[in-house]
Amino acid sequence: MKFSTVLKAGALSAIQLAAALNIILTNDDAYTSSNIRATYQALKDEGHNVFIVAPAENQSGKGGTFSFSSSPKLQKSSEFGDLPAGSPAWGYEESDNHVWYFNGTPAASVAFGLDYVIPNYFSNINIDLVVSGPNEGSNAGPGLFTLSGTIGATYYAVGRGIPAAAFSADYSNHSYYKDVNGFLPNKDDDSFYSNIYAKTVVAKLVDALATAAGDNDRLLPLGVGLNINIPYVGAPAKETYNVDCTAPPLVYTRITGGAQSYTVKFNETSGVFVWSYLDSQKAPGLNVAYNGPTDLAGETDVSNAAGCRVAVSAYSVDYTAPAPVNDEVHNLIQAALKR
Ligand SMILES: *[C@@H]1O[C@H](CO)[C@@H](O)[C@H](O)[C@H]1NC(C)=O
Ligand SMILES: *[C@@H]1O[C@H](CO)[C@@H](O)[C@H](O)[C@H]1NC(C)=O
Ligand SMILES: *[C@@H]1O[C@H](CO)[C@@H](O)[C@H](O)[C@H]1NC(C)=O
Repeated sequence: MKFSTVLKAGALSAIQLAAALNIILTNDDAYTSSNIRATYQALKDEGHNVFIVAPAENQSGKGGTFSFSSSPKLQKSSEFGDLPAGSPAWGYEESDNHVWYFNGTPAASVAFGLDYVIPNYFSNINIDLVVSGPNEGSNAGPGLFTLSGTIGATYYAVGRGIPAAAFSADYSNHSYYKDVNGFLPNKDDDSFYSNIYAKTVVAKLVDALATAAGDNDRLLPLGVGLNINIPYVGAPAKETYNVDCTAPPLVYTRITGGAQSYTVKFNETSGVFVWSYLDSQKAPGLNVAYNGPTDLAGETDVSNAAGCRVAVSAYSVDYTAPAPVNDEVHNLIQAALKR
């Protein structure tokens, strides 16, 4: 954290002081997605020192998989074609040495940022926070928690001792930041959905963390990260659900509750299986309430598309079962533990 503070005029009456953070920003949809670029801009506008270090390709659904290309060259063009096949498998944009890509999974991209980019190019400064996303698609509930590359990048970072927050938006268009309908022409358009995520959700939450941390050098307790799910906003919310949602309120939630699972369905016409959701009744194990305050609402229910509410859940990477059920299991296997 840089202890030079950023002076921000908030509401007319209030002047807030928040520390400028060193942030690695990643995702799983690629470094050229609208959402990551809008977030980069919004966090920089708040005075933070931000580094995009994100996959060169779509790395959706990779969870915490830690893998990367063994070739020094891209085997195919980067996502949306900014870099042709044969370009270096990692690097930064000519116009901005804070924008890096890596031909690997989100978790591996964070490692590349922490262990290569920052030490070799930025004097090994301390990274205060890893932000991932906003993903193109919801990642609510424990089923998606393990599957999502967006979240995978954050639990990798949390394991390294670095506070991290994963953001996922229900609207899933795979949007390129240079498209006419994408970020570049809409850079200053506050009604553009990527800008709504970036300004009213990501920057707001990061600012709250920075302000609350004060002189502490940790933004979150050790071993803990945040999973944030954003509903439809802006034009997609209007078009799809006839809802006006331009600044969704943030609600504190738990990860279980209303969570869906998924399954395979056979398609007679194509002769292959397709992916489909299973509702929460078919996923009782995903919806236990063992940890945390059990009276919080589930993030799946809170962030559902039409509701215009953002769900914010805290997670821990201590996956050990909590004490009461743990003791029960201990008793169940007692015979096997005795020699
Ligand atoms: C990204 O990869 C995932 C997993 O392989 C795939 O399901 C999805 O369709 C891909 N998205 C795009 C836009 O290519
Ligand atoms: C979805 O993303 C594509 C790729 O960037 C873009 O061409 C298209 O206009 C987007 N659609 C909407 C509705 O934003
Ligand atoms: C089943 O396969 C056919 C032919 O490939 C395709 O048109 C159809 O959309 C598929 N249905 C589902 C539910 O995926």
